[in-house]
Amino acid sequence: MLRALLLENVHPAAVEILRDAGIEVETRPGALDEAELIETLADFQILGIRSKTQVTRHVLESVPGLLAVGTFSIGTNQIDLEAAASRGVAVFNAPFSNTRSVVELAVAEIIALTRRLTVRDKALHDGVWDKTADGSHEVRGRTLGIIGYGNIGSQLSVLAENLGMKVVFFDAAEKLALGNARRVETLDELLEVADAVTIHVDGRAGNAGMFTGDMFARMKPGAIFLNLSRGFVVDLESLREHILSGHLAGAAVDVFPSEPKKRGDRFDSPLRGLDNVVLTPHVGGSTLEAQESIGHFVAKKLRDYFLTGSTTLSVNLPNLQLEHTGVGRIALLHRNVPGVLAAVNQVFADHGANIEAQMLATRGDLGYVVTDISDVTQRGASKKLMAMDTTVRLRIRDAFDRPEFPPGPAAG
Ligand SMILES: NC(=O)c1ccc[n+]([C@@H]2O[C@H](COP(=O)([O-])OP(=O)(O)OC[C@H]3O[C@@H](n4cnc5c(N)ncnc54)[C@H](O)[C@@H]3O)[C@@H](O)[C@H]2O)c1
Repeated sequence: MLRALLLENVHPAAVEILRDAGIEVETRPGALDEAELIETLADFQILGIRSKTQVTRHVLESVPGLLAVGTFSIGTNQIDLEAAASRGVAVFNAPFSNTRSVVELAVAEIIALTRRLTVRDKALHDGVWDKTADGSHEVRGRTLGIIGYGNIGSQLSVLAENLGMKVVFFDAAEKLALGNARRVETLDELLEVADAVTIHVDGRAGNAGMFTGDMFARMKPGAIFLNLSRGFVVDLESLREHILSGHLAGAAVDVFPSEPKKRGDRFDSPLRGLDNVVLTPHVGGSTLEAQESIGHFVAKKLRDYFLTGSTTLSVNLPNLQLEHTGVGRIALLHRNVPGVLAAVNQVFADHGANIEAQMLATRGDLGYVVTDISDVTQRGASKKLMAMDTTVRLRIRDAFDRPEFPPGPAAG
C-alpha cells in the first residue's frame, strides 16, 4: 500500500482525499530536519509539507522510494526542484488557492487607507474624539493602478471595478483586460493617474528592488501604496521618506525583505510607527478558507498522479493531463534525448503489445511518455524499459480500478 507522510499541520481535507484514494496517511504537526526527514521517509512514497520542511538534494538522493512531494503552499523554494526532477519525483503546489484571500485583504486596505480609518481608530483608542472628514475619501471614482495582472492582480481588478473604481494595469506580459480595466504600456503612465498603486508581480529575480525612490516620487501626491507580493520588490526606506514628507497619504505592506522565522519573533522595519501605514505579517493568503482550499488542491494533484499518472500543474515534471482508460498503463519518465520514443515503441513492438493510446510531453531535460496497453504486466517489456540508460523512472499499473499505482524503481 502507498503511504503518505503529511507534516506541518496540513489541512485535514488533504488526509481525507488521500485516504479515500486508498493511500495510508500519517500526519505530524511540525517540520522535520534533514536527518529526521531521511530516516522517516524511508517508509513513505508521498511527502506533504508546508513552508518549513526543506527537501534538499541530499534528502531526495537518500530516499529512492519517494515518488511525489506536495507543498501545501504557493512557494516551492523549500524544495530542490531540479534534484527532484532528475530523480523523477513529482512536485505539486497550490498556485492560486489563496488568491481570493490576498485580494480581499487588498480591497480592505485600499478602503481603510483611503478613508484614513487607521488614524481615526488610533485616535479613539488613545482617547481622542477626532471627528473630521480631513483626508478621507470614498474609493468610488478613484483610480487603482495594478502592477502585475496575474491571478491576484486580475481578480482585484474585478472587485475594485465593482466598488466603482477605475482600473489601470501594467504587466510585463500580454494580459487580457477584464471588465473595463485599461492596460497601460509603461509604469509611468500608471503612476501618473493612479490614486492607489498596488503591486502583485511574481518573485522573479529581476523584480528585486523594482519599486524605488524614483517611482514613489512619480506617484500622485496624496496617493496610497500597497505591496502584498514579495518583500524584496520595494525599497522600504524610500517608502518611509515619502510617507513622512506627506507626498503619499498611506501604505499597506504585508511582505518584507527579511521576515522573522516564527510567530512571536521580534519584527523591525523602517515603516513601524508611521501614520496611516498598515503592517501585516505576511498574512495576505492566510485564511482558514485558503488553508482548506490548498489542502483540497494539492491532495487531489497527488491523488491523480497516483491513480492516473497525471502531472497537470506539476512544477517540475512535463505536464500531461491523463484520465482513467480502463487498460494497463506504462508511465516512463526519461531523459529528453532524440530517439527515446522510437526505442520505447520498439520494445513494445518486440513484445507484441498493442498500443491503445500514447501521450508525450517534454520539459527541459525530461520527457514523459505514457502508453496505454492492455495486459501490461504479462509481456515483460518493463525490464527492457528499466534497462534503457535514458530511463529516470518507470511506473506500471495493470488495472485502472486499483488505487495503487505501484512505485517503479528510480533509475540513475
Ligand atoms: N501576501 C501573501 O500572503 C501572498 C499570497 C499569495 C501570493 N503572494 C504573492 O503575490 C504575487 C502575485 O501572485 P499571483 O498568483 O498573482 O502571481 P502570477 O504569477 O499569477 O502573476 C504575476 C504577474 O506579474 C507580472 N509581472 C512580473 N514581473 C513584472 C514586472 N516587473 N512588471 C510588470 N508585471 C510583472 C507577470 O507577467 C504576471 O502576470 C506573487 O509574488 C506571490 O508570491 C503573496
